[in-house]
Amino acid sequence: MSVAPDRNLALELVRVTEAAALAAARWIGRGEKESADQAAVDAMRLMLDTVDMAGVVVIGEGEKDEAPMLFNGERVGSGTGPPVDVAVDPLEGTRLTALGQPNAIAVIAVAERDTMFFPGAAVYMDKIACGEDAAEVIDITATPTENVQRVAEAKGVDVRQISVVVLERERHESLISELREAGAKVNLIRDGDVAPSIAAAQGGTGVDLLMGIGGTPEGVISAAAIKCLGGALQGRLWPRNEDERRQLIDAGHDLDRVLTTDDLVAGEDVFVAATGVTTGALLRGVRVTPAGAATDSIVMRSRSGTVRRIAAEHAFAKLSQLSAVEYG
Ligand code: FBP
Repeated sequence: MSVAPDRNLALELVRVTEAAALAAARWIGRGEKESADQAAVDAMRLMLDTVDMAGVVVIGEGEKDEAPMLFNGERVGSGTGPPVDVAVDPLEGTRLTALGQPNAIAVIAVAERDTMFFPGAAVYMDKIACGEDAAEVIDITATPTENVQRVAEAKGVDVRQISVVVLERERHESLISELREAGAKVNLIRDGDVAPSIAAAQGGTGVDLLMGIGGTPEGVISAAAIKCLGGALQGRLWPRNEDERRQLIDAGHDLDRVLTTDDLVAGEDVFVAATGVTTGALLRGVRVTPAGAATDSIVMRSRSGTVRRIAAEHAFAKLSQLSAVEYG
């Protein structure tokens, strides 16, 4: 008996990331990262309630006291529909947006209720992410040299052709020099490690690996995308100091544990949508058009494995009659 496919939430979620990206784009290059973030949060929050789901924010803007909207535990969505965990990053790359630099995106991930890793006090995580062709060979407990060699071998290329994206941070000095000595190309980025993790998983983007220490919430969102695209992400919690180490151990975390893609997102029906704010390896940013703006998004679902690219034209004059989001 044939069964009609069920709803693909990613197709609704793209309206949410488009709204956030359009709102944030008004702040590109204006040097005000808080305003850019706030605009993205407001637009995303408004649009989220149109999505038919009973969502709980697991990864949001932080604790309720500090985040008036999209705080951890907040209920989002219309309230009808599937009970789901929601991870949001209305503006991944606030500084990038403020400085008019590449790779800022608006992103959201949704999975079955109680299937997403809750970062709690675990602010940072050491990560390695790659595409399907290298998923079986990466190992965060091995050296960076071993990892790039294994990835090169799995891809059937010389190490000199492997590109690794790394956040440009002091804490990565030895990682960067080891990768270069091993022969790999290191692409340093100022911020935003979600887009390059997704780019590494997608293949054909010029990014083979993402390595280094970045945000744990960003790691969970990246893992959601990798569940849809194939590939792998491994992480290990990385406390910044003794206090954080204690806090994490007291909260029951094993700091040596390698968190796999499935540990970070255990759900089997995962949806991700992302829209470019500024142009990067994964997505083109928001472009002004005579009628309004054009956006470029990617949406995906793990269960079906469908990945869609959605190019949209937004007519600001019409949109402002429909919605309280400020356009233009
Ligand atoms: P924003 O908060 O400015 O959007 O920056 C995001 C980000 O660059 C993430 O992509 C990354 O995981 C994390 O911050 C790195 O943290 P830090 O800047 O503290 O090294």
